[in-house]
Amino acid sequence: MSMRGEVAVIGVGMTKFGEHWDKQLRDLFVEAALEAIEDAQVDLRDIKAMFIGNMGSGLWVEQEHLGPLLADYLGIPGTPSLKIESACASSGMAFRLGVISVAVGLYDIVLVGGVEKTSDVTHGESIHHLASVADREWEAFYGMTLPALFALIAKRHMMQYGTTREQLAKVAVKNHKHGSYNPKAQFQRPISIEDVLNSPLVADPLRLLDCSPISDGAAVAIIARSDIARKFTDTPVYVLGSGVATDTIALHDRDDITTFKSIVLAAREAYKMAKVEPKDINVAEVHDSFTIAEILAYEDLGFVKKGEGGKLIDEGVTELGGKIPVNTSGGLKARGHSPGATGIAQIVEIVLQLRNDAGKRQVSNAEIGLTQNIGGSGASCVIHIFGNKR
Ligand code: COA
Repeated sequence: MSMRGEVAVIGVGMTKFGEHWDKQLRDLFVEAALEAIEDAQVDLRDIKAMFIGNMGSGLWVEQEHLGPLLADYLGIPGTPSLKIESACASSGMAFRLGVISVAVGLYDIVLVGGVEKTSDVTHGESIHHLASVADREWEAFYGMTLPALFALIAKRHMMQYGTTREQLAKVAVKNHKHGSYNPKAQFQRPISIEDVLNSPLVADPLRLLDCSPISDGAAVAIIARSDIARKFTDTPVYVLGSGVATDTIALHDRDDITTFKSIVLAAREAYKMAKVEPKDINVAEVHDSFTIAEILAYEDLGFVKKGEGGKLIDEGVTELGGKIPVNTSGGLKARGHSPGATGIAQIVEIVLQLRNDAGKRQVSNAEIGLTQNIGGSGASCVIHIFGNKR
């Protein structure tokens, strides 16, 4: 069965990402959900199920059982509702499961969301929690953190393909520039290459301004069967393709750490279902947890040949105004990265772009958009392709 075009996004909402000292996890979720419900012009009672992405509520806020908790706080107890976990790809995965549930005819209208509250613990505790998505026994136990794992990938890519320190910096500069046009972005200030190169070293060669922050936030999409979508909105955005794959949990078990096999495999499934090729994508949100991750995404998504990701950033192809603008929201780097919410936040941006609602950061004539969301150091990946025509 192909799900191509069977399901549409009819509304989206999200909180600003950042440090929300005055809000709890449930408040963040309800804020994003109510915005999406209003955007979709559905009634709360129209929502027949909820799929919520979350990486680590048990670790960060010692709260599990998010499914019923969030249905309760949204005011629809009784509704089927469950939490989906796949590290930083949790809400991308929740979206996929929500789409499947509508495509098979189980529900007409479903809420898919993502939420994470990270700021109530110390930075050290957050780093420890984040490392639980790598291999605790063989990586994290020996001191490998997520920045350290991506630093190894960056060093290897630089050695193998000649990618430069400046090219990595340019990814952060581009994404901060895009973020300065996004009122929901955590960082709305442009930065320079020098700012990146002079920022404190985190894990050589990655510096503070190569890293995404650890954010609080929530994002929600309301999805519906495509044949009823126009009852609610004049601008449905259709799910054309969906792909998911996994890779080894530990970096040392991979043949080549300069490629994320999970991206390659998930992209193959999504492109095939959508019947599009990389050259057809007009706008993309990719998982730039670290600047090197965006370079790898260009290559593994097929936007450019392996090893040439740095060239793409040098040539401005992925900037607003370029041929394939990437991370117009500011990406994880500047919009912020709230692990459980990031996947849907990416979808929010692509939906706004395809509805022509992206304000100052609008890509002209955008018709086909892609989201790529990875978990941890690439052990899971989920990709979606969207179109404003069925
Ligand atoms: N980008 C831009 N600015 C950042 C930033 C980031 N990633 N992280 C922090 N800042 C800013 C803060 O706002 C603060 O600015 P201010 O002094 O004007 O308020 C300043 O830099 C220092 O912030 P602080 O919170 O002390 O930073 P930190 O040293 O505790 O943490 C990182 C910075 C980069 C180490 C941390 O954000 C990190 O570990 N990021 C990676 C998260 C990760 O691994 N995610 C998983 C991805 S798979």
